Amino acid sequence: MLQCLMHTRFEFPQQTAFYKGKVRDVYTIKNNYLVSIATDRISAFDVVLPRGIPYKGQVLNLIAKRFLELTKDIVPNWLIESPHPNVSIGLKCQPFKIEMVVRAYLVGHLARWYKAGHRTICGATLPEGLKEFDALPHPIITPTTKADQGHDMDISPSEIIHQKLATPEQYEQLEQYSLKLFQRGQEYARQRNLILADTKYEFGLFDGKIYLIDEVHTPDSSRYFYADSYEEALKNNESPKQLSKEFVRQWLIENNFMGQEGQRVPEMTDTKVEEISNRYIELYENVMGEKFLKTDYTNIEKDIETAVLQSLEKLN
Ligand SMILES: Nc1ncnc2c1ncn2[C@@H]1O[C@H](COP(=O)(O)OP(=O)(O)OP(=O)(O)O)[C@@H](O)[C@H]1O
Ligand SMILES: [Mg+2]
Repeated sequence: MLQCLMHTRFEFPQQTAFYKGKVRDVYTIKNNYLVSIATDRISAFDVVLPRGIPYKGQVLNLIAKRFLELTKDIVPNWLIESPHPNVSIGLKCQPFKIEMVVRAYLVGHLARWYKAGHRTICGATLPEGLKEFDALPHPIITPTTKADQGHDMDISPSEIIHQKLATPEQYEQLEQYSLKLFQRGQEYARQRNLILADTKYEFGLFDGKIYLIDEVHTPDSSRYFYADSYEEALKNNESPKQLSKEFVRQWLIENNFMGQEGQRVPEMTDTKVEEISNRYIELYENVMGEKFLKTDYTNIEKDIETAVLQSLEKLN
């Protein structure tokens, strides 16, 4: 039996709101704090897949925690404490309605855009002659809208300001933070023999100050390559092995699912679910440079509740 944490429905003291994201169950406490529970739900093409992936929540939460700690000298972030491997507690910020996507390689959406003949994206210019998976001359920022519903869309900085999604000063600061964070992420990845190809950051305001929120440098928000096999793959005109959710997307595409109307998610057998779970664990061990310790699922909801209650008591 494959165990998963799919849904939670807690009633914490002084809870003022509950939000069910695609992956996280987010509880608001006293309008100021968030209890964010990373479940084992998995989304692709903005659709939550019918089956969960054992340990995925834990993988995401622990990687995000590590990078929030490793980058707090660059920008303050929302995290106060992680009282359980699936849980983070921190400041509830007013999110900017944009995602700051930073890209250093021609891969994914950018590769498709480039192949279609485009040489500019979100105000950034791309040189001629790039091949898929090539490094860009320098990292570029390609922000997207953070859609309440449907798919996120590319947006240019001038449009962000025109639509008042951020002031010019705020946007300038978000760009600076994003590039510095990305540089830190790349340095860290290099030490692990990985390449951070791209990622996205979210920011929010608390007391008028900008904070980094959400998850950072996780396989759901980033793409990594294995540095060793990257060069080799390019020489042989092959796709470099990626550490990201991309392999799930690839599998879905091969089975005719891209999140569009009328398309059906292919059957997720136990074998498939286990394969994806193992891939997430492999990813954890490569990114973190340490063995993954599986959390016990026997009483996981109770364990989470106890840990959160203890933590909230300290906050009061
Ligand atoms: N500190 C924070 N303050 C406010 N909102 C936050 C904070 N950290 C994360 N969030 C928001 O909480 C949600 C986390 O849920 P989850 O990761 O499941 O969402 P998602 O699948 O990325 O997007 P969606 O919200 O569209 O489902 C996101 O909407 C994210 O923007
Ligand atoms: Mg998210």
